[in-house]
This record gives sequence, structure tokens and C-alpha cells, in this order.
Amino acid sequence: NPKLEGDDAHGCLTPAHCRSKGAAPGFKVAILGAAGGIGQPLSMLMKINPLISVLHLYDVVNTPGVTADISHMDTGAVVRGFLGASQLEGALTGMDLVIIPAGVARKPGMTRDDLFNINAGIVKSLSEGVARFCPQALVNIISNPVNSTVPIAAEVFKKAGTYDPKRLLGVTKLDVVRANTFVAEVLGVDPRDVDVPVVGGHAGITILPLLSQVKPPSAFTPKEIEYLTDRIQNGGTEVVEAKAGAGSATLSMAFAAAKFAESCLRALRGDAGIIECAYIDSQVTEIPYFASKVRLGRGGIEEVLPLGPLNDYERESLEKAKKELASSIEKGVAFVKK
Ligand code: NAD
Ligand code: LMR
Repeated sequence: NPKLEGDDAHGCLTPAHCRSKGAAPGFKVAILGAAGGIGQPLSMLMKINPLISVLHLYDVVNTPGVTADISHMDTGAVVRGFLGASQLEGALTGMDLVIIPAGVARKPGMTRDDLFNINAGIVKSLSEGVARFCPQALVNIISNPVNSTVPIAAEVFKKAGTYDPKRLLGVTKLDVVRANTFVAEVLGVDPRDVDVPVVGGHAGITILPLLSQVKPPSAFTPKEIEYLTDRIQNGGTEVVEAKAGAGSATLSMAFAAAKFAESCLRALRGDAGIIECAYIDSQVTEIPYFASKVRLGRGGIEEVLPLGPLNDYERESLEKAKKELASSIEKGVAFVKK
């Protein structure tokens, strides 16, 4: 049976059971919101990851079923399910990495900020759990609006006295994944060979693809720049409209979150040269949270890389993005301080 709370540290009934499951030493990862549209495929992808020995699936609904299902996959990670607030402590205790895709998703006609009223409270209470039960963990925030939910988590950690800005990362990887895909289409190359830095934030005009810094170095016509910028900034809306009321990006997001989590775990393991874009507590601009390239290491964010040379178009776009970011950040901070 998949276990719901109360076993030993590896989530196994006995040491023999643990050995029989091949629970090699590895990282312990919790997914909060694991039964949702992102949570389920993300849980599946994490169950396949050989860096993970223990996978905790937490949600306020349906974790027994999701846990039973995923636990039958013959991979190394031991899976345990946790249901509801009374089991949050068990879900979080001892975790190295906590991934948070909990919260409601957009429907057509909504902005990500329209999710604030519900998701702010969810992220606040889950962050309080992290501060209490696994303050050392690396935290990946997926719940929207990311531009506000990361400052919310930071304020909760500050209040609790556990804040380490190196360990809190807003997940903007889907913007990079999309940008690589769309740019590769235009260039007629394999998306795996393309690297597009995407900076700023994760909503509309705050999503700033730096097309002047694409690797391999590429020149785009003004028309291509307009097309690509618009498509990357509105990739989320494209999916929301195509799903026509059935939610927002889940599968591509799970893929992006799994890649991002893999980078975090490899960094925690001590691998060198792990670079990702993420939305973090930042001094790259005067805006207190900003997405840019960071180098990850054993301590989380070890270096925030400079933005690099921007062209006139990117500089102008950056100024517009900063205005919107500042107000989204202020809204998040005020929510916790009120
Ligand atoms: P969903 O509604 O399918 O799933 C959300 C899950 O969260 C549900 O299972 C729900 O029960 C759970 N949940 C709600 N309150 C909870 C709580 N207090 N504790 C634990 N779990 C709770 O939504 P989804 O499609 O999985 O999207 C989740 C969030 O991710 C949304 O806010 C969405 O906008 C956001 N998102 C972010 C990105 C990004 O790039 N950062 C991309 C896609 C979606
Ligand atoms: C996305 O970029 O797909 C997510 O932020 C979900 C959304 O609402 O667009």
C-alpha cells in the first residue's frame, strides 16, 4: 500500500522494505499541490528522477489516489502521500527541496493577478509550513502570480526569522522553455541547441526575452522580434485560451519544473556550472525581486549573473516591466504585512 504519514524516515515500513525498494541515498523532495494539473505530471517526472530517494506528495484533495498510482512505478524514489493541513508537518519535515504548484489556475479573460486573492493565502500558509518544518529547504514557487507569490513567501520567512534569499526561487523556467521552442522554430534548428535568457518576471510585459543574447548568436528581423516577443510573453494565455476554461499550462509546466528541480538537485549535490533563469530577491536592478540568470550551488543561489548588454528595444521594455513588477511586489509584501 502507498503510505499516508507515520512510517520511518524513508517512508518505508521496515529497513528491509526500504532496501527492497532500492532507496539509495538521495534527496528528499516535497510537492505541495501534487494532485493538481501540474502536480500530477510533475510528481510522475520526479518519481523518475534518480537523484530523489524520497518523494512526498501533499495536497488538500486526492493525494491517496495519486500516491497509490505513482508508487507503482518501478523507480528508486519512495513515495508517500499527505492529505490536508494536519499532515503538512509530515510532508515537509526533512525535505531538501519543496516545490509549490498549489493554487487556482487562470480561465480565459483572466490575468495572473486575478488569481492573487485565492493564491496569496495558499502560498502564505504553505510558506509558514516550510518556515516551521523545513526552514533549510530550497523552495521553488510555481503558484501564480509568481511576481507576487515569491515576495509573499519571502515576507513569511522574514517574519519567521528563517529567510535565506539564496534558497527561494520563483520558477520562470517555462518562459525559457517556450522561448527556446519558438526561437528554434524561427531559426529552423533543434530547440535543444537554443538558449534564450528570459528576465524580468512571469506575467505579460514583465516577461523579457533577451533575443539579442540568444545562443547560438542569431540576428532577427524587427518583424521576427515583434512576433517572438509577443508569443513568448503571451505563451501562457495561448494555452489558457486553447484549453477554453479547462485550466492553464500543466504538461509543459511540469516538464519545465522538473528540469528546474533537476538543476537545483544537481547543484545541491555539488555539480558545477548550473545556470538557470529564476525570479529571486535581486540587486540586478533597483526592483527588489527580478528574474535573471543565476548560478546554483550547494547553498542555493551562489551568484546572480549580470543582465549583459541590452539593445535599445530591450532597455525600453525593461523600464516598462520594472513598473509593473514593482506594484506586483508591493502587493505581495503588503498582503503579509497587513
Ligand atoms: P490545478 O487547479 O489543476 O491544481 C492546483 C492544486 O493545488 C489542486 O490539486 C488543489 O487541490 C491544490 N491546492 C489548493 N489549495 C491547496 C493548499 N492550501 N495546499 C495544497 N494544495 C492546494 O492548477 P494547476 O494547473 O496545477 O496550476 C497551479 C498553479 O500554478 C496556478 O496558480 C497556476 O497559475 C500556476 N502556474 C504557474 C506557472 C509558472 O510558470 N510559474 C505555469 C503554469 C501554472
Ligand atoms: C503560464 O505561463 O502558462 C502560467 O503562468 C499559467 C498562466 O496562467 O498563464
